[in-house]
Amino acid sequence: MILVTGGAGFIGANFVLDWLRHSDEAVLNVDKLTYAGNLHTLASLDADPRHVFVRADICDAQALDALFAAHRPRAVVHFAAESHVDRSIHGPADFVQTNVVGTFVLLEAARRYWSTLDDAARGAFRFLHVSTDEVFGSLAATDPQFSETTPYAPNSPYSATKAGSDHLVRAYHHTYGLPTLTTNCSNNYGPYQFPEKLIPLMIANALAGKPLPVYGDGRNVRDWLYVGDHCSAIREVLARGEPGQTYNVGGWNEKANIEVVETICDLLDDARPKATGSYREQIAFVTDRPGHDRRYAIDARKLERELGWRPAETFETGLAKTVRWYLDNQDWVDEVASGEYRKWVETNYAKRA
Ligand code: NAD
Ligand code: DAU
Repeated sequence: MILVTGGAGFIGANFVLDWLRHSDEAVLNVDKLTYAGNLHTLASLDADPRHVFVRADICDAQALDALFAAHRPRAVVHFAAESHVDRSIHGPADFVQTNVVGTFVLLEAARRYWSTLDDAARGAFRFLHVSTDEVFGSLAATDPQFSETTPYAPNSPYSATKAGSDHLVRAYHHTYGLPTLTTNCSNNYGPYQFPEKLIPLMIANALAGKPLPVYGDGRNVRDWLYVGDHCSAIREVLARGEPGQTYNVGGWNEKANIEVVETICDLLDDARPKATGSYREQIAFVTDRPGHDRRYAIDARKLERELGWRPAETFETGLAKTVRWYLDNQDWVDEVASGEYRKWVETNYAKRA
């Protein structure tokens, strides 16, 4: 069994679904179900005994000790985090608590459990920490991409807390020998992403006839990775990564935000034409995000060289799939937008615990 934290969130849920498509090994899914956790995403696993869901906070050491002791996982894949940069600007406290303190509490629980294992199991154990390219700071247009040796320079409360968690993970390997792996990934997109992030927000607003708010001049650059490709990278790193190492994960898809938004509009114009005009007419330039990093770009050659991983999707194929998914799954979006998914979570999580 593997223990996944944050498996009801966007990437975590995609990972759980992907894992169980590729393996019969069970998943213990530990998630606090914050606003970003949505068990409805995992409804297809309702009757699947390989998926065990437990609502718990990674800051709760007692709960974690009990889970490790009861389920004896051979690995941890740690997604749980506060993940949205804008929220971290308005309220950083939860980010420090979950991303720094929570990762610390989880590392401690993993270390206690790991120390009880026999030599073979200790050697085989893995703690994979899922992190972000934002820890490296902001690039100018002509700078080389981030590599695994780029110095850390986080600029937002979110990225500062992720950087703190990365350092703790590194220290637990260096000091205690815990077999850790860290992945630093670029911007993900795909099915089940909470419509606060750029791509799902733009799709939802476009279809609702609302403005499409583009921060600043729209020329900030992000490096996009389809979530399914992130999942395959994590599977590879977990299976064959070297403990103590970090691996950058990216899609080789640098795009300016305005380009992304215009492409979404064009895809929607084809798939769901408006009575008159184009969705592009809804684009509205708005006040910039404070401290907005200009450019992120990932050099993912280490992962390719050492583990043979390459993304399967281009930005064009991945974005077309994503727009199609949101058009075909309006129920999921409506439940999130209306807050209905919270009621669903409250009434349904107990039966899975
Ligand atoms: P998300 O916000 O969609 O999901 C986070 C999940 O963690 C939710 O299910 C939430 O309920 C859970 N959670 C939050 N606090 C918790 C706590 N204290 N205890 C237990 N569970 C808790 O996030 P995401 O976009 O899926 O990101 C997952 C991970 O990947 C994060 O660590 C994030 O930093 C990292 N990451 C995300 C991206 C991206 O583009 N989304 C890119 C690189 C790295
Ligand atoms: O780089 C990886 C990171 O990508 C992850 O670590 C974070 O968890 C994830 O949230 C994401 O951070 P970003 O800040 O890059 O993602 P977001 O979708 O919030 O914004 C993407 C870009 O679009 C960014 O330059 C800000 C801009 N933007 C965003 C929103 C929500 C807009 O112009 N308008 C918007 O309404």
